[in-house]
Amino acid sequence: MAIIAPSLLAADFLKLESECKMLNESVADWYHLDVMDGHFVPNISFGPMLIEFFRKATTKVCDVHLMIEEPGNYAEMFKKAGADILSVHIEACPHLHRNIQQIKSLGMQAGVALNPHTPVESLKDVLADIDLVCMMSVNPGFGGQSFIPHTLHKIKQLREMIDERALNVKIEIDGGVTVENAKSIIDAGADVLVAGNTVFKSKDPKATIATLKNM
Ligand code: DX5
Ligand code: ZN
Repeated sequence: MAIIAPSLLAADFLKLESECKMLNESVADWYHLDVMDGHFVPNISFGPMLIEFFRKATTKVCDVHLMIEEPGNYAEMFKKAGADILSVHIEACPHLHRNIQQIKSLGMQAGVALNPHTPVESLKDVLADIDLVCMMSVNPGFGGQSFIPHTLHKIKQLREMIDERALNVKIEIDGGVTVENAKSIIDAGADVLVAGNTVFKSKDPKATIATLKNM
């Protein structure tokens, strides 16, 4: 069974309390929290302050996806806000290994996020040091985009890299996940499905989460 991580970016921010209640009552495993800085991606979302509120509203795992430049300057802040998993983008980190060490030394699980054009081979030398690969299946910055089909090849390739070395690294797929394509994503080797619009814009979000979970 896949880990389901609804992305709060697609939630109704005027109704955050009931959105959190819905997630808590659902079979969702993680809260996926998208932080955007208007530099690394052409959009601005929210930061540690809001994550502190989400932390208080749930006992589920807080999976924070940083789409920001210089993430090392903020890692401690996100730890304090309550992040359990912190993912940084490989494209934003010339000293990626240092970022990973910092995240781990702060007591969080470390994730590395990959844009659609970034080859999975670029992870080779850090794969043994991380807990999660957040593979983008859309260009980061916005919810509600269509899944890029080539991602399925990248998932298979990464699955092989991980299994060959018997590593304990989860593959998370982020962007354009739907009830229709979820099965093919899991079959390709994904462990975690992020879903924003598919969950929050559906008529019955809890049921949609259960459908994704039971694929
Ligand atoms: C995109 C974010 C995603 C986004 C997914 O930059 O990283 O997590 O919220 O939204 P959907 O599932 O609607 O594509
Ligand atoms: Zn994300």
